[in-house]
Amino acid sequence: MTKKAKKQNSSIRAAITGVHGYVPPDVLTNAELARMVDTSDQWILERTGIKERHILKGKGLGTSHMGAEAVRGLLKKTGTAPGDVDLLICATTTPDFVFPSTANLICDMSDIRGIGSFDVQAACSGFVYALTIAAQFIEGSAFRKIVVVGADKMSSIIDYTDRATCVLFGDGAGAVLVEPSRKYGILDTLIASDGAGMKHLHQKAGGSRMPPTAETVAKRLHFVHQEGAAVYKFAIARMAEVATELMARNRLTKDTVDWLVPHQANLRIIEATAERLGLPAKRVMVTIQKYGNTTAATIPLCLWDYEQKLKAGDRLILAAFGGGFTWGGIYMTWAYDTPAQRSESKTGEGNRTKDGRKSLAVRLASIVRAPFALRAAFSTSLLRRG
Ligand code: ACO
Repeated sequence: MTKKAKKQNSSIRAAITGVHGYVPPDVLTNAELARMVDTSDQWILERTGIKERHILKGKGLGTSHMGAEAVRGLLKKTGTAPGDVDLLICATTTPDFVFPSTANLICDMSDIRGIGSFDVQAACSGFVYALTIAAQFIEGSAFRKIVVVGADKMSSIIDYTDRATCVLFGDGAGAVLVEPSRKYGILDTLIASDGAGMKHLHQKAGGSRMPPTAETVAKRLHFVHQEGAAVYKFAIARMAEVATELMARNRLTKDTVDWLVPHQANLRIIEATAERLGLPAKRVMVTIQKYGNTTAATIPLCLWDYEQKLKAGDRLILAAFGGGFTWGGIYMTWAYDTPAQRSESKTGEGNRTKDGRKSLAVRLASIVRAPFALRAAFSTSLLRRG
């Protein structure tokens, strides 16, 4: 279907070594939307899986505000000094300005100075595109710490009189730290696009083709225009294709993929994708119920939400599609256990392998600490073998 974008035999991989997210405090529920347009909580929930979404309010606050919140939290959490960041990439469809880039603004707001920074625009596939670019920098240059942000203030381009689109979107930001690793990280990437899809999903005015005028504003042309059914069909086909192709070319099966991390546009699209791949719901990340579609932020927000469940070595397939049309995916192994997981495993409570058994190392450690555990540990493993 698409060209491979990634060298397969590089010994250095780009690994995500930290994730953080931010959603603004104001929540817009389905019940509130039902008071604004002709819709209902039941319709929204049944057709999309969304219960509520967060909306950024406050004069003068744009996408960079949320991106910077996520980045500052990420730097603090990972113990990274702003001066140690080599590059910052921001995926967004709702930049604060046409220029300068939102990445530029986020750097300034996070006290990151003097480095390269730029935006990537690939609609809902933006984060996958940006992470793919970051991986090339890690593998092919001396860059050691790259911050990749996915952030969108969708409420700034949504028509809250159009029931077909206003129920779908929310605001938010997620950020990841990407560093070189010899053990874990990005193993394969795939990005693709088809500009013929533009007619189904775009913002008609505000760009160079139709700059803003009083008329474009009066005609409500600065909002998301979407032909939902056409996008829906495209989304289901492409999400499954991306994941299937990545799995096939990396010899993965439904049993060896630990997590599907899908773009969150509609729960029905996510479920259909998982079904086509044969993946059970418990291995599919879903946050759409509380955030809605936050465009470039959905995938990093998923990783942030599920961080405590992820373990070093877990195999993840990221899959996204969006306006353009654009689509893409990434196959990676997760690079770390959280401090909570590490301390759990030290006490012998955590570090369970996929089938629920404790790892041998943890069992032996607990035996050293408590010899009476010997009998129980080995009789259990023998029983399992039998
Ligand atoms: N409440 C009540 N009724 C509604 C609403 C609403 N919020 N929205 C639409 N309807 C009505 C329609 O008017 C239509 O009524 P009609 O039959 O009388 O004409 C009926 O519901 C069915 O409309 P459909 O569009 O067929 O509804 P569908 O089940 O397809 O769901 C939806 C619509 C949720 C938009 C779906 O098509 C979808 O999820 N599409 C994909 C969206 C998506 O993935 N977008 C990607 C954005 S990514 C990016 O890059 C920005």
